[in-house]
Formats: sequence, C-alpha cells, structure tokens
Amino acid sequence: MFIIININITLAFPLSTDSRWIVDDGNKGRRVKLTCVNWPSHLEAAVAEGLSKQPLDSIAEKIVSMGFNCVRLTWPLYLATDETFSGVMTVRQSLRKFGLFEAISGVQVHNPSILDLPLIKAFQEVVSCLGRNRLMVILDNHISQPGWCCSDNDGNGFFGDKHLNPNLWIRGLKRMASMFANVSSNVVAMSLRNELRGPKQNIKDWYKYMQEGAEAVHSVNQNILIIVSGLNYATDLSFLRDRPFQVSFRRKVVFEIHWYGFWSSWKGEDLNKICRRETENIMRMSGFLLEKGFPLFVSEFGIDQRGSNVNDNRFLSCFMALAADLDVDWAIWTVAGSYYLRGKTIGPDESYGVLDWSWSSIRNSTILQMISAIQSPFRGPGLMETHPKKIIFHPSTGLCIVRKSLFQLKLGSCDKPESWRVSSHRVLSLSEEQIFCLKAYEKGKSVKLRLFFFEFYCSKWKPLSGSNMQLSSITKSGASVCLDVDSDSNNIVTKSCKCLEGNSTCDPKSQWFKLVTSTRSRFKPNPFLQISPYSKRFLQKSLSV
Ligand SMILES: *[C@@H]1O[C@H](CO)[C@@H](O)[C@H](O)[C@H]1NC(C)=O
Ligand SMILES: *[C@@H]1O[C@H](CO)[C@@H](O)[C@H](O)[C@H]1NC(C)=O
Repeated sequence: MFIIININITLAFPLSTDSRWIVDDGNKGRRVKLTCVNWPSHLEAAVAEGLSKQPLDSIAEKIVSMGFNCVRLTWPLYLATDETFSGVMTVRQSLRKFGLFEAISGVQVHNPSILDLPLIKAFQEVVSCLGRNRLMVILDNHISQPGWCCSDNDGNGFFGDKHLNPNLWIRGLKRMASMFANVSSNVVAMSLRNELRGPKQNIKDWYKYMQEGAEAVHSVNQNILIIVSGLNYATDLSFLRDRPFQVSFRRKVVFEIHWYGFWSSWKGEDLNKICRRETENIMRMSGFLLEKGFPLFVSEFGIDQRGSNVNDNRFLSCFMALAADLDVDWAIWTVAGSYYLRGKTIGPDESYGVLDWSWSSIRNSTILQMISAIQSPFRGPGLMETHPKKIIFHPSTGLCIVRKSLFQLKLGSCDKPESWRVSSHRVLSLSEEQIFCLKAYEKGKSVKLRLFFFEFYCSKWKPLSGSNMQLSSITKSGASVCLDVDSDSNNIVTKSCKCLEGNSTCDPKSQWFKLVTSTRSRFKPNPFLQISPYSKRFLQKSLSV
C-alpha cells in the first residue's frame, strides 16, 4: 500500500520500527516522523468533535494545511463493544440524548450525510476522509464510557475498574483493529489505552494486560504499529528499565507519553532549574527508551493558545528544546476549537485548540509557526544527507540561527539553518565553511562570523546556567556575555547573561539556544519536509518577522 503524504514524498505502508525510529516499508526504510493533532471523538456523544462547525473535508484540509501529517483519533471502548453505540444509535440520536440541538442543526448544515449514520459508521467516515486527505490515523482507545477523560476515580482508569473489564477491552481492540485492517491503509497505529491511572494501577497487571492487548491487536492486524502507554496518566514507563515488554512479534512497538505544563509549576523558581529538572524527569521516566531502541511518541502535549498563560509558555520553550533535541514523534492536544459538550457545559471553547471556537481559522499562528519547527525530522534513517552536525535552535521562537549576510547572523526558519561544528575548545565554526567561526564582540552588539585562521581568533562558548542552554563567552574587554536575540531585528547579539542568580521572576528564555543534531543539508531542498506547499506558504507569511 502506498500513500502520498505530499507532492514530494510517497510513504510505503505499513510502518514499522527501526531501533528508535518509525520507518516506512520502502526498501530503504525511510523515517516517518509522526507529527499529529489529537482529534477527540470520545466525549459524551461519541462523535468526532467539530462536525457541527465545519464540513469534515474542510477540517481535514485544515489539518494538512497546518503541516500535520497525522491524526490521533480518540474513541471510547463502548463504541466498539456496545451494540447501542456500534450498531443502533445514530449521530442525531446521540446528540439529542444530551440535548445538543444546536449541534444537530450544525451537523445538518455542514455534514448532512453523517447525521443519520450509526455512530460507528460516522467514525469510519471520519477515518476515510482523513485518508483521502493523506493523513495517517492513530486510533487511540481513550476511555470506555464516553465522556471527558481523566480522573483517578472515574472508573475508567485501570484494569479491574468498573469500566475497564480486560476481556471487553481486548474484544474492543480486536474489533477496531480488524475493522480497519483491510479498508483503510491510512490507519497506521493503535494506542492500546490512554492514561492508565488510579488506585488499582500496578506494574504486574500492566505487563499482563498490555502484552495481551498488543498480541490481540497484532493477531488481527499485522500492519499497524502498537502504541503502549505507561502508568500515572501516561507518564511512567520507568519499570521498562528492569523488565522488557515481551511480545511475539518484532518492530511494531512504540511507547507513548504525555507531558503538560499544568501538571507542575513552572513559576516561583528559577526557570533554568525547573526546565532541567523536568527534562531529567522525562528522561528517567521514559526518555531512556530511545537509547534502548524504542520510538517514543509524545502523544499529548499542549498549551493555552491564547498566549497569556505564563506557566504554559515557560513549559513550551522547555518542551521545544527537548523535542527538537530528541527529534521525537508527537501529537499536540488538540485540533478541537470547541466541544459539543464537556462535563455539563454545552459548546465550550477549548483554549488549547489549534483551531478557534468555530473550527474555521487558526487560533494562534505565532504558536503554530513555532511548533512547525519540529514538524519535519532533523535526522533518522533515509535522512543522512550530510554527516551529523549541530544546528543552533532557539526554543522560545522555534527558529534557528541563519545567515543574514556574509558575516551576520539572525534567527530564521529551521528549514535551512547554518550548521556548526563544536571543537574540543568550545569554538563554534560553520561545518560547511570551516573558515568561519562565531565571535562575540562588545556587549549589546551583534555577534559575527569571523575568518578562522587560528582558534584564538574565535570566541569560546560555554553552556551556562541550570538549563545549560545559555551560551556564554568573554568579550575582548573581559565582559562575560551570553548569546541573545535583538527583539527588533532578530539579529543575534550578546547581552549580559540573564537570571544566573536564580531569581524566580527572571525570564531567561530569549537566551536559550539548543545545539541540535541534524543531518539535513542546507544546500539541498529537504525532500523529507512533511508539510504541504500550502502550509509552507502560510508559514512564510507568518514568518516575515
Ligand atoms: C484482510 O485481508 C486478508 C488477506 O488479504 C485476509 O486474510 C483477512 O481475513 C482480511 N481481514 C478482514 C478483517 O477482512
Ligand atoms: C499568540 O501567542 C503569542 C505568544 O504566546 C501571544 O503573544 C499572542 O498574544 C497570541 N495571539 C493571540 C491572537 O492569541
């Protein structure tokens, strides 16, 4: 099976894993980086959200135009196991049951062909439409009883809870996996269960049931990847250090984690320290799996798209640094700009939504542009255009250091960044034109490229502060400075190093730079850029900073 993801790239399905990478089925096994949006379809009505706001096709087109290549589509277990949901109840009836009359009229206007389909058929329509729009789909069993997820005591948290009967769960997974086995090649993966949690959770049962679930899915659909989440709301896979996940098949298992800023406080303390601590925690709980040779899919992260949530903004910069550095697969929460019903509220706005309330336009193109930096892969099988080298990534803008003129540097798109070598003396020189190195002049002035006759002509750049992301050097007059960005011109300059005293109100983000390993070549058009021509135009427009 083949699917054309954009004009440049044809992926051969099925997908499989090659150590820590997800790869396609071509003879070279080229990396496929999952860069997805979550599309909820597991709430009370058990209908994909947004169908009362926009035509299905136009939502799918928007997803493509925003540069995503895949959708993590959530489903409640009972949709596959309970006759009422799977055969009898229609979209109209389900919405009516909750008094969602405005939603009914909306679906009537925008998606009339779906309104009187049984819920499961409507779900299939969504999957096929995503396929027609060349989007890969990950089916995520999000909950059993349709409704907002998750809490410790909602009865959906762990095997043995009121709504998580392991046998029924296995039956539902098999039904879903076989339903899409032959019809929809764009269903590339299934995640077995979202955010296991609650008082019953334990490691022993986790192995027993997750291994069983994986075998069950594979037994009816050998094509798809099987995505496995850990304990404590998909944050903890640390137990895999000691005991492997054992299944009878190879190269199909991917692990997943969730990471939200609101799970901890990113304020009230030195942000450099918080970012370091949270990053180390991620590495300890799940990040180590990459080195063990498993792909790690950050299947939920997200931020308040209104841009005014300081905690989330701080989280996002730290997240971007790690996500670029590890070059992980990910899915943002969420495409949904609003819901039919959430809890008791009808038609609430979703401030974490990439689309606005009416699902018609992008809620915040600044944030989307930032995230687009991690939409195309930096490295991986099939992406070895050059030897591994470093690019200098600026996580709080999602931009990279690029050339402004022969000697001057600025922030620009990570599509074609300058690439660097770091010498043992911490001199940064251009990897493709090694005659140039990075030199700090006076504080407040631009840093420049300098012709590199001797190493002492160049500045040495030491990582500083708790985050290790502030690059410091000494000027000729002996001042200690850090790499920074001039906010008016986007030029790369040096300024006094910020926040080294650990002041909790201080914000060091403009001085964060991450050296990210990349094998892309600046001189070749990137054939792996998994974004559509439309979205590139959109990005260029919003990039004209
Ligand atoms: C899918 O196709 C394969 C072979 O083409 C067949 O053996 C299998 O039964 C089919 N599965 C379903 C669910 O139709
Ligand atoms: C988008 O987010 C940015 C950055 O966080 C913020 O400054 C801006 O006000 C937001 N824009 C809108 C339209 O919400």
